[in-house]
Amino acid sequence: MLSDADIHSLLMRRRAGYSLPQAFYTDADVYQADLKNIWQKDWIFAVAAAELPKTGNYVTLQIGACSLIIVRGADGVIRAFHNSCRHRGSRICSAGKGSAPKLVCPYHQWTYELDGKLLWAREMGPDFKPENHGLKTVHCTDISGMVYVCLADEAPDTGELARQAARYLGPHDLSNLKVAHQSTILEKGNWKLVLENNRECYHCSGSHPSLCRTFPDDPNLVGGDDASTSNVGRAHVERCENAGLPASYRIAPSEQWRLVRIPFLGDAVSYTMDGKAAVSKRIGTVPFDNAGTCLFYHYPNTWNHFLSDHVLTFRVLPVGPMETEVTTTWLVRKDAEEGVDYDLKRLTDVWIHTNDEDRRIIEENQAGILSPAYEPGPYSPVQESGVIQFVDWYARALETGLVGRFRVAAE
Ligand code: FES
Ligand SMILES: [Fe+2]
Repeated sequence: MLSDADIHSLLMRRRAGYSLPQAFYTDADVYQADLKNIWQKDWIFAVAAAELPKTGNYVTLQIGACSLIIVRGADGVIRAFHNSCRHRGSRICSAGKGSAPKLVCPYHQWTYELDGKLLWAREMGPDFKPENHGLKTVHCTDISGMVYVCLADEAPDTGELARQAARYLGPHDLSNLKVAHQSTILEKGNWKLVLENNRECYHCSGSHPSLCRTFPDDPNLVGGDDASTSNVGRAHVERCENAGLPASYRIAPSEQWRLVRIPFLGDAVSYTMDGKAAVSKRIGTVPFDNAGTCLFYHYPNTWNHFLSDHVLTFRVLPVGPMETEVTTTWLVRKDAEEGVDYDLKRLTDVWIHTNDEDRRIIEENQAGILSPAYEPGPYSPVQESGVIQFVDWYARALETGLVGRFRVAAE
């Protein structure tokens, strides 16, 4: 059993620039600490609003012990609730997604409006007050078409993120997109290994033949300052910005999120095997086909690609200390017709391959870390600065949470 104090001391003894001590990738108590101090405190990406186009469309989501329902109401607003009935606690929705005119508990049919109010409960006696038994709400916000939820009592401020997302993601007009495809895979690895793997392309040339046809693995393209940004990257940013498309590197002071627009390799305009567009209908107000990809990550659970012809969202959810779910969603223009404007296989090929390649990498990484011979190894300062940055963010976030708990315990 690792106490909060044990985890804190382990965290304080970690070596900067090195992968984390074994327990951070394997231990059930560290996993619980991650849930409490990060996953139940921060904004978590849930769905693209385009996944819930109509009244009554819902998805369910599991964050640790919390099951959530995210549903579009009759007024068009997307809200989030705890998926736990106010009668005796049953889960109300068991499917991953669906559509319902009301939320009806399957146990005794208590019936809730889509805004969470309790509408009907049979024979509860004269003193029963339905208004005291609405579904418990969870913070929910729509940031340029990306819906986030937050389980904390007080959710962190999203003002600057919302402002910058409107500038960078707004031109891709997510409200005018639809889901072309979605895939969910389970990876037998700790969630931080999934994020770490995403934050570097040191592994790309050896593992991602399809992705490497179009995606440049040059770490300087996503450099934070001019000195570390390549000429190609600078020229691309300039060309986009001159056309009114925000592109320059922008990172939150906390480093929790980052936006930047980078070019594809050569003449490529999309993530396809031949580099040509996957969808014939350009999205939003993106001014040209070769706008590259706008990379947007938000810790702890999402990275995304905004292209001229489609948008890819990635959602990471922890399932256990060594198990993580990754959901990828391909969004295209609402009026794009499959078989006419795009071919689904062509659209999805590259990232279906890439996700599977990453799953194998992560599972091998996890299996190797389980060995007693594992000790934290050095990240490449050239190729893995993104991983160093993520791990440092994680360490700060976990430390802040743990120290907060000590204070509460001491009071
Ligand atoms: S537990 Fe939901 S109606 Fe009884
Ligand atoms: Fe990868």
